[in-house]
Amino acid sequence: MTDLQTQAKPPPKKSVALSGIVAGNTALCTVGRSGKDLHYRGYDILDLAETCEFEEVAYLLVHGVLPTVSELSAYKAKLKSLRGLPTAVRTTLEALPAAAHPMDVMRSGVSTLGCVLPETHDHNHPGARDIADRLMASLGSILLYWWHFAHHGRRIEVETDDDSIGGHFLHLLHGAPPSPSHARAMHTSLILYAEHEFNASTFTARTIAGTGADMYSAISGAIGALRGPKHGGANEVAFEIQKRYAGPDEAEADIRKRVAAKEVVIGFGHPVYTIGDPRNEVIKGVARQLSADAGSTRMFEIAERIEAVMSETKKMFANLDWFSAVSYHMMGVPTAMFTPLFVISRTSGWSAHVIEQRQDNKIIRPSANYVGPENLTFVPIEARGKSSAARAA
Ligand SMILES: CC(C)(COP(=O)(O)OP(=O)(O)OC[C@H]1O[C@@H](n2cnc3c(N)ncnc32)[C@H](O)[C@@H]1OP(=O)(O)O)[C@@H](O)C(=O)NCCC(=O)NCCS
Repeated sequence: MTDLQTQAKPPPKKSVALSGIVAGNTALCTVGRSGKDLHYRGYDILDLAETCEFEEVAYLLVHGVLPTVSELSAYKAKLKSLRGLPTAVRTTLEALPAAAHPMDVMRSGVSTLGCVLPETHDHNHPGARDIADRLMASLGSILLYWWHFAHHGRRIEVETDDDSIGGHFLHLLHGAPPSPSHARAMHTSLILYAEHEFNASTFTARTIAGTGADMYSAISGAIGALRGPKHGGANEVAFEIQKRYAGPDEAEADIRKRVAAKEVVIGFGHPVYTIGDPRNEVIKGVARQLSADAGSTRMFEIAERIEAVMSETKKMFANLDWFSAVSYHMMGVPTAMFTPLFVISRTSGWSAHVIEQRQDNKIIRPSANYVGPENLTFVPIEARGKSSAARAA
């Protein structure tokens, strides 16, 4: 028996439905087996995050193995060739209002691509992998084509010569290629967000895939699930919290009051990890470096002070979203694009899960515990009298 097998199972998390319930098999990822570890296809995230390129990890997840030098080079060339957008997608994006949330734009863009370049009926694995690659390559194009058209009335050229998915995103956002340190920070951030076992959005994707639906349906459903503040949307809320304060002292005083009032501070705690989020130290290092390079450390200091207060008062640890918020802010990414970056990255994990679920070839259909009334007397419609709202009251 391994150490992991002999460890006592942690108690279920109070606020998480189905916490600790095993809902299926996967060869893609393990989360928190020691309370604070993460592995992608058997590789420790700490070995991947700071040295790999995101495309290496996407290849590992979607195509099954770490690529060789020549495979990675061919893969990056393939991704680069998939950055363009069909005319129908551009037309759809141009019809979306500037007030739309970028996550809704991403979801709509994926749906439109699914109409224009649908998956073949046989759902063969090479075809599914091609769709995953196209989505990862072009989601940044989708978001930033809409952004510049809706906000600045400009139709931008989305096919840049950048070496990476993260670099392409920053280039389209800022209109210039990113610095090497920003391109590196994006690799690390996207690697950390790439995969996380049966989280809410991945489980959504697998549930959709289990019905036999196409890859685009699974990914657009997953984007919907990721949008909420208890999941991917947490990085946006984390930044809203950090930016409330002029400095660390003000942040500390206010957070102490909120914790005493039992307020949940988004960006802390986790549905699975019990000891700590292994991704936090890595992304914290990225946030610290970006802040030091920019000579602007105020947001980092506020975030770090709140982290210390949460640890002292609630024994609560920061999750990946907390310092991701600082990192994205330091790279000039607007807050509403934090979760879309998560989408670009997690499309690798979602797609790999869709392919795995198809191999399993079963529909997902759990049972419910019925808590409603029993044995009611049926009353015909003409005899019901009062409005249904009055009868329900
Ligand atoms: C993930 C989450 C639902 C787990 O909550 P949980 O099931 O209550 O977790 P635990 O059982 O470990 O909680 C222990 C205690 O800490 C509290 N707590 C948990 N997360 C907290 C947070 N972020 N802020 C303040 N208190 C928190 C709980 O209310 C509970 O308090 P109590 O013992 O006084 O009742 C919760 O941490 C959360 O909502 N976090 C913020 C959302 C977020 O950042 N999501 C992104 C995750 S990737």
